[in-house]
Amino acid sequence: MLKRLLSFFIPVNIHEQNSDTSQKLEVTWNNGQLVLDSKNTNYSYGSLQRILRKGLHYIGSERIRGFENTLVLGVAAGSVIKTLAEEIKFRGKITGVEIDPAAIEIANTYFGLNEVANCEIVIDDAFEFVLKTKEKYDLIIIDIFRDTEMPNFLFEDFWRNRINFLLRINGFILFNTMTLNEKHKERNLLYRSRFSSDYSVRMYPKVEDHNELFTIKKLR
Ligand SMILES: C[S@@+](CC[C@H](N)C(=O)[O-])C[C@H]1O[C@@H](n2cnc3c(N)ncnc32)[C@H](O)[C@@H]1O
Repeated sequence: MLKRLLSFFIPVNIHEQNSDTSQKLEVTWNNGQLVLDSKNTNYSYGSLQRILRKGLHYIGSERIRGFENTLVLGVAAGSVIKTLAEEIKFRGKITGVEIDPAAIEIANTYFGLNEVANCEIVIDDAFEFVLKTKEKYDLIIIDIFRDTEMPNFLFEDFWRNRINFLLRINGFILFNTMTLNEKHKERNLLYRSRFSSDYSVRMYPKVEDHNELFTIKKLR
């Protein structure tokens, strides 16, 4: 309680560990809220949760409640899973895929991720998982970062085609990207141009500083 109060004045770090994927994982009280940060950026809760919450609202809570199956690629401390389960009241199945077991340990210990009843967590590389899965999904949330870096595979045709294949008709992809320079902005424009008229693609720039969100609907 004291640490939380103090955090309105200065951030209070309560846990820190090294991570192969993210260099460092830090659990911190910040302005009265517990957040997870990597070495150089916010990973879960805080601004990251606000970004994905906006994306979910662009898609629409009512519509999401009607979905059966959601896939979350990149879980960290699981803030978007909490938003889905507790704020949107999504009661369908949630599968979360996270490469870093340390992040999931933190998610369960400090953020109660294991209390979300309709959620299954798979420790795996998202790239491997999407090749293996036999399921189809109504909502696929892509939120994969290694600290501030986005792996190149996220923008490659092979990955995009595979994700599109796993998406049901009338389903949505929510893709969180970081645009720190002109090259990143061009990368995103090119990515957008790759979708055929079977998809409705929207870009939401400057969602909290450097993030650009995509919502992609599969029309047919
Ligand atoms: C910004 S965080 C995700 C935040 C989360 N979506 C939330 O709502 O709180 C990015 C996560 O992507 C994970 N990640 C990086 N590369 C990955 C990969 N190839 N497969 C799965 N997860 C990966 C990182 O370990 C990190 O936990």
